[in-house]
Amino acid sequence: MAVSLRPQQPDDMHLLTGGESPFDDFGPASRPEPRPARLDADGGLAVIAGDGQLAGGVSWHWTEWGPTAGSRCPMIGIWLRPEYRGHGIGTAAQAQVVGLFFRHTTVNRVEAHTDVENVAEQRALEAAGFQREGVTRGAQWRDGTYHDGILYAVLRADPRPSLPDLVAAANVAARDGGGTTPATGALSS
Ligand SMILES: CC(C)(COP(=O)(O)OP(=O)(O)OC[C@H]1O[C@@H](n2cnc3c(N)ncnc32)[C@H](O)[C@@H]1OP(=O)(O)O)[C@@H](O)C(=O)NCCC(=O)NCCS
Repeated sequence: MAVSLRPQQPDDMHLLTGGESPFDDFGPASRPEPRPARLDADGGLAVIAGDGQLAGGVSWHWTEWGPTAGSRCPMIGIWLRPEYRGHGIGTAAQAQVVGLFFRHTTVNRVEAHTDVENVAEQRALEAAGFQREGVTRGAQWRDGTYHDGILYAVLRADPRPSLPDLVAAANVAARDGGGTTPATGALSS
């Protein structure tokens, strides 16, 4: 079974903690609710690893660069459980989200934003087809200080890597999964 995405379920939420990452240190947070799995509103999906276990979550919120619908685009985010990082899953999952938006909506652009020091996410985004657009100076308040970020985007017409190749490359069993919900209702992109 390859890396896949499916709607988030209540039983996933105790594992989607957002923890163990300095780039997600925004202070106390209640356990999140499952995000809606619809693309035309803010939402999210569960990321299922090749071993069938919950590896993490992807999410998106809509931003706009003009007052009309044609200037709206989703900005995506991702968090993986620590034991599932470094296996290509982040690359494959984000490439799949991009594929979902270009296949099932009419958006021209999908965005992402990450810290200047988050090399793993920068490399994952670039491997997924995103292009670096610029530095957002002092854009994010986190852990007691302002941080610079990097804005990334992929346009509908941009060249993108082969999704089957990315998914195959990430088709590894995690070192220790930790039982959770199997991948049912996987979405195609
Ligand atoms: C960032 C994250 C999504 C990347 O996903 P991943 O599955 O771990 O990354 P991948 O295995 O797809 O690796 C992507 C690239 O980053 C590199 N990489 C992975 N971990 C790295 C690390 N800790 N430091 C530097 N590079 C790293 C890989 O070598 C790979 O580069 P390559 O294609 O040139 O070989 C994941 O590590 C994560 O969830 N981190 C914590 C939360 C977070 O930072 N989310 C993003 C917030 S904007």
